[in-house]
Amino acid sequence: MPCKTATSTIADIHARRSIRRFTGQSVGDEALLAVLNAGRWAPSGLNNQPCRFLVLKQTDPRKEKIAPLTKYSSLIRDANVVVAVFIDENASYHELRDHQAAGAAIQNMLLAAHSLGLGAVWIGQIANRANDVIKALDLAEKNLTLVAAVAIGYPAESPTPDRHPLEHFLLETLS
Ligand SMILES: Cc1cc2nc3c(=O)[nH]c(=O)nc-3n(C[C@H](O)[C@H](O)[C@H](O)COP(=O)(O)O)c2cc1C
Repeated sequence: MPCKTATSTIADIHARRSIRRFTGQSVGDEALLAVLNAGRWAPSGLNNQPCRFLVLKQTDPRKEKIAPLTKYSSLIRDANVVVAVFIDENASYHELRDHQAAGAAIQNMLLAAHSLGLGAVWIGQIANRANDVIKALDLAEKNLTLVAAVAIGYPAESPTPDRHPLEHFLLETLS
């Protein structure tokens, strides 16, 4: 059966890049809600929906509290919005699969941001100091695990794509 015409989803998957320089323009609430809802609609094992999002807008003083806790502090400061992504351990059923669900939620948010003309980057390194970040955000009582932060803004760069050819990924040649 012939393949359907590639949708804009596939075009967005190819064109999305990690954006680390932002213009300073504000991200509107409508666009932000669209990004967060894209995260909400990610798949999860048993549909347990373990992810929780904390949204830090530009003027939120908590941004400055967590910025020194990552080597990507300038990204936290410069992004118009930072979404901290957690797993709610009270909703957890399987550590690996909950983290996979969080990855799916983050990728959905990155793709949604790209499709709206925004730029975003996944900041996994901030989880090196997960407990310090959780304390700085006054979330220590909530039984959360920090997975990553997503920095979002309007892009001020167009990075060059870099991927190995498909043969690198395939364990066998396609027959
Ligand atoms: C699990 C994970 C963690 C990442 N952590 C960081 C990070 O801490 N800082 C950063 O600048 N980029 C981070 N990235 C973004 C990658 O560097 C980026 O996706 C990769 O270089 C490919 O570039 P592209 O997204 O533009 O295609 C992370 C990506 C993933 C999937």
